[in-house]
Amino acid sequence: MKQHKMVVIAAAVSVLVSAAVSAQNAFNDADKAVEYRQKAFSVMQNNFAAMGDMVRGDAPFDAAIFAARAADFAAMTTIPWPAFDTAGAQPGNNSDALAAIWSNRDDFNQRAVKLQADAKALAEIAAAGVEADSRKAFMTAARNCKACHDQYKD
Ligand code: HEC
Repeated sequence: MKQHKMVVIAAAVSVLVSAAVSAQNAFNDADKAVEYRQKAFSVMQNNFAAMGDMVRGDAPFDAAIFAARAADFAAMTTIPWPAFDTAGAQPGNNSDALAAIWSNRDDFNQRAVKLQADAKALAEIAAAGVEADSRKAFMTAARNCKACHDQYKD
């Protein structure tokens, strides 16, 4: 019974993972795919940095601005992943992506899913406008960046 439950959960998780990260691959050109994912990460970072300034106290906390940046951040976290599926968009020219991504694709995909989940939670919490809760959710989301970059980004 217990084992059956585990299998069902594992199946549900794998459906979620593939739905979240292997959306239609729209890129035929490897260079365009690399450019696309880098730009997505870059806009993601712009939004994240704006919140980070408030969390660190370099800018005054403004609940409305924080919530807007959190919403855009969450939207951007869904964007980069299909561009890792394009043939030829593996490491090399103009990309900091490491080969380890393609030899540990399930782990990489799970990290991408976790980032999206934490970002969605952050956006929802930020919408409520409570500073302490927003900071905490920001820190949770922030842990995803370095953890993935340490393993998969040059
Ligand atoms: C699941 C793995 C993963 C997570 C999580 C992740 N990144 Fe990245 N990130 C990458 C990879 C891989 C690259 C390299 C892409 C390339 O050069 O092809 C990258 C590149 C970047 C870049 C450089 C973009 C450019 O212009 O070349 C920035 C900025 C960035 N990430 C910010 C972030 C931030 C901020 C977070 C957390 C909020 C984050 N990333 C979370 C995998 C991840």
